[in-house]
Amino acid sequence: MSKETQHSNLRTAKKVKKDEFYTQLTDISKEMKHYKNHFKDKVVYCNCDDPRVSNFFHFFSYNFEKLGLKKLITTCYKSQSMDLFSENDSEQAIYLEYTGDKNGNFVPDPEEIGIVELKGDGDFRSKESIELLKQADIVVTNPPFSLFREFISQLDEYNKKFIIIGNVNAITYKETFRLIKENNLWLGASIHSGDREFGVPDDYPLTAAGSRIDENGNKFIRVKGVRWFTNLDYKERHEDLILYKNYTTEEFPTYDNYDAINVNKTKDIPMDYKGVMGVPITFLDKYNPDQFDILGLSASAGYDEEIVGIPFKGVKDARPLVNGKVTYARIFIKNKKI
Ligand SMILES: C[S@@+](CC[C@H](N)C(=O)[O-])C[C@H]1O[C@@H](n2cnc3c(N)ncnc32)[C@H](O)[C@@H]1O
Repeated sequence: MSKETQHSNLRTAKKVKKDEFYTQLTDISKEMKHYKNHFKDKVVYCNCDDPRVSNFFHFFSYNFEKLGLKKLITTCYKSQSMDLFSENDSEQAIYLEYTGDKNGNFVPDPEEIGIVELKGDGDFRSKESIELLKQADIVVTNPPFSLFREFISQLDEYNKKFIIIGNVNAITYKETFRLIKENNLWLGASIHSGDREFGVPDDYPLTAAGSRIDENGNKFIRVKGVRWFTNLDYKERHEDLILYKNYTTEEFPTYDNYDAINVNKTKDIPMDYKGVMGVPITFLDKYNPDQFDILGLSASAGYDEEIVGIPFKGVKDARPLVNGKVTYARIFIKNKKI
């Protein structure tokens, strides 16, 4: 491989690895409409958001009065390892404060938005950002996926309400699942399948199928397995999943290594089974905490009683086994109503 090619591959890898995916306004508004009653007199904090490109900032500044917000704070991260590929190319990390329209045009004008320079880089873990976080009631953003665990842990540590978007696989992270199990985190209302389009920086290599450039030259890619994660309640999550199947030992075998039955599809959960059932992680898209209890999760990590939630009867592999065959990750649940 020539030096030039090596260089270019490295650059591409660096770019692809970057966390620069911009959430679309339509996805933000489709989710936020489920939480209207939560925003009144609240301070919203978007802590991974360059206001020049963030639709979170756009959404909350333009809907400030409609939602009855008290304040909108946005921090713009300025990576220390600045590279040429980031759209976050401001010279200085800053934060913005918006307290609503002052001149009666119901539009956030530049002179109404307070811009304050940060001493550090605006990292959500920095002291300055944590001081802003403490003021906030609700954090709403798309955090860098590579830092999702730390992001969730920080929200939990500071006891914050949040609506954040990320990858469905984050369900299986210990930091996330612990909160799911305690009923302190659940999936949002508007995305339960398919893929979603995200904006990417101009120099992002558009190799993936489904990527496109719009008439203004803006680049987009489609991302699979996207979900909202929140701890704000909404009406739809209290609707029962309609069950229609009866339990049979043939269709729902008991695991070799857990005292629970295997259910391959959420819609097939037997309506008359009182014991523990192992269901796919996408069960969470249908989860109503009034209908089911979540006991734990068995995924590829080894047996950890706190996460798995039920006793392990096996020897080595902690993943659920059916007749010696490993199944996908399973969430252990119990029907509360029978
Ligand atoms: C997935 S993007 C989402 C951007 C924006 N929230 C949106 O949805 O349009 C994550 C953003 O977090 C920024 N970021 C990366 N590391 C960060 C950190 N440690 N603290 C704060 N922001 C960070 C990235 O520059 C990137 O713009």
